[in-house]
Amino acid sequence: TINYLLETLWTHPPAEDVVGALDLGGASTQITFLPGTTIDDSSTRSLLRLYGANYSIYTHSYLCYGQNQALKMLMASLHQGSPSPQQISHPCYPTGYQENITTSDLYNSPCVHAPSTPSPAQVLTVSGTGDPSACSTAIQKLFNFTCGANRTCGFNGVYQPPVRGQFFAFSGLYHNLHFLNLTGGQSLSLVNDTVRQFCIISWEKFPTMNRTHLRDVCAASSYVLTLLLQGYKFNHTTWLDIHFVQQVANVDVGWTLGYMLNLTNMIPSETPQRVVGLQRSNWVAATVLLAVMLILIFCLLTVICCQKNSSGYESL
Ligand SMILES: *[C@@H]1O[C@H](CO)[C@@H](O)[C@H](O)[C@H]1NC(C)=O
Ligand SMILES: *[C@@H]1O[C@H](CO)[C@@H](O)[C@H](O)[C@H]1NC(C)=O
Ligand SMILES: *[C@@H]1O[C@H](CO)[C@@H](O)[C@H](O)[C@H]1NC(C)=O
Ligand SMILES: *[C@@H]1O[C@H](CO)[C@@H](O)[C@H](O)[C@H]1NC(C)=O
Ligand SMILES: *[C@@H]1O[C@H](CO)[C@@H](O)[C@H](O)[C@H]1NC(C)=O
Ligand SMILES: *[C@@H]1O[C@H](CO)[C@@H](O)[C@H](O)[C@H]1NC(C)=O
Ligand SMILES: *[C@@H]1O[C@H](CO)[C@@H](O)[C@H](O)[C@H]1NC(C)=O
Repeated sequence: TINYLLETLWTHPPAEDVVGALDLGGASTQITFLPGTTIDDSSTRSLLRLYGANYSIYTHSYLCYGQNQALKMLMASLHQGSPSPQQISHPCYPTGYQENITTSDLYNSPCVHAPSTPSPAQVLTVSGTGDPSACSTAIQKLFNFTCGANRTCGFNGVYQPPVRGQFFAFSGLYHNLHFLNLTGGQSLSLVNDTVRQFCIISWEKFPTMNRTHLRDVCAASSYVLTLLLQGYKFNHTTWLDIHFVQQVANVDVGWTLGYMLNLTNMIPSETPQRVVGLQRSNWVAATVLLAVMLILIFCLLTVICCQKNSSGYESL
């Protein structure tokens, strides 16, 4: 979708100019790019023939690692690691925040594994502790960063070549960092500092009106950082290659447009020959239009001048 909107593929660009995509939804997250090496694991390879060129694209979708499910897994993990079965200390929630949830709400998703000894619906009291370091540590426990021998990987043992080129990051990745004003190409250290500073703001400091969505800002933006850095293996340098966007060429970016383009065969596999002819006829039409407009303007000016003269105004 992004390369279609940017029109990068028309001219058979060098591989490193093809833009990669990073997506974070509610239930899953995706990474897609054109790697500089061969793709060793064919289950992550997607072959596309677009505008007469072949592309071997790396892509993987991690189920349950979308924002909502990941934060649910985090809560369940904190619950299971909690010394008291009815209390959850949540390091990613602001200090002073408290809520009661039930175990049935917490374990109602296939992404979270209920404890082996199921108990009747219990009420759990969740208390925020606003501790950014503990928050990062708790989030990292949701991932398995161990790779098999002699291969590079993303997480949970999924093969991934090293990231390469420019990336556009959208959906949840954009929204979380945009809320903290961090989508303007800020350095990774500034982003880290800003997220940490937000995490230590206590619940009472937020304006009472509309503060419910502020509860998750620390958790969600810390999750985004862990996912991009430890998960997808971006670093201080490649961080600057990630462009956080909502729109490309005035179109909202997401998976739906690409899905539709594919279903309707809107991207030709061969270089369209018509493009040149189309452009030429457009050019001719534009030239004719311009000529007509110039003539009209000239006529209009003449008429105005004549009127001014006849009504006694001084001529220009
Ligand atoms: C592109 O892939 C097709 C098969 O999908 C193959 O027939 C063709 O030769 C390839 N073209 C190039 C330039 O590699
Ligand atoms: C949670 O439940 C406890 C009693 O179980 C109650 O004292 C407390 O006020 C409740 N907290 C909230 C935020 O509703
Ligand atoms: C790792 O891969 C390299 C190149 O693909 C190969 O030469 C080497 O023998 C491999 N090492 C192991 C331990 O598999
Ligand atoms: C983590 O992943 C590695 C490699 O895929 C695997 O061998 C290991 O068992 C996993 N660890 C856990 C705790 O799941
Ligand atoms: C982001 O910037 C806007 C305007 O510059 C400001 O009103 C808002 O408070 C900032 N948000 C944060 C979280 O710093
Ligand atoms: C706060 O919430 C109310 C009602 O949900 C809404 O009308 C208002 O625009 C919100 N204000 C802000 C600043 O988001
Ligand atoms: C794209 O369309 C082709 C048929 O035109 C289909 O075989 C393929 O599965 C589609 N890809 C996706 C991701 O839907």
